[in-house]
Amino acid sequence: MTRVHPAYILLGLAALAGAGLAQAQTAATPAPSLAQIVLARQASLEMSGVTFIQMKHAMESAEQAKNESSAANALALWAKTLPAMFPAGTAIGQTSITSKAKPEIWTNRPQFESRAADYAAATAKLSDLAKADDAAGFTAQLDAVRKTCSACHEDFKAR
Ligand code: HEC
Repeated sequence: MTRVHPAYILLGLAALAGAGLAQAQTAATPAPSLAQIVLARQASLEMSGVTFIQMKHAMESAEQAKNESSAANALALWAKTLPAMFPAGTAIGQTSITSKAKPEIWTNRPQFESRAADYAAATAKLSDLAKADDAAGFTAQLDAVRKTCSACHEDFKAR
């Protein structure tokens, strides 16, 4: 029988300990609860409002469109995951968090997804126009984005 060098035994033990630690860490960091998902989406939506107004004001003050690239990109990134932040069980009254998410989001899911897709397309274009530093195009696209916010709110957000 070949003798195993003690250093390899130590390495093996360290690897085992590491695996145990990784497991313990996984257990200590569970997936977000439904209430936390509601809070996260509400934070993103509030920030969307602030980001949108800030871009509007910037263009009214004749700022360069390219300076709004990060703001536009932030909305485009959020738009990509917005529907996923509305999992089942997160409507008005379903979690401990006060929400304005109407039950229609789940009973008429295809339309909700379609509204979100319109929003994603509009913000992707907004981001491209900012990068191209197209001030007139960017300003016009802000109105197009605004319409996609309202279109979803009309059907899916309580007042
Ligand atoms: C695909 C649907 C959808 C789109 C697109 C969308 N929202 Fe909303 N928004 C919602 C829903 C649903 C809620 C309520 C969420 C909750 O309370 O859990 C909400 C909530 C909000 C809120 C919180 C204030 C309030 O009245 O409850 C703000 C601010 C907001 N949205 C701004 C925006 C802006 C600005 C845009 C576009 C740049 C936008 N939203 C695009 C669905 C959408």
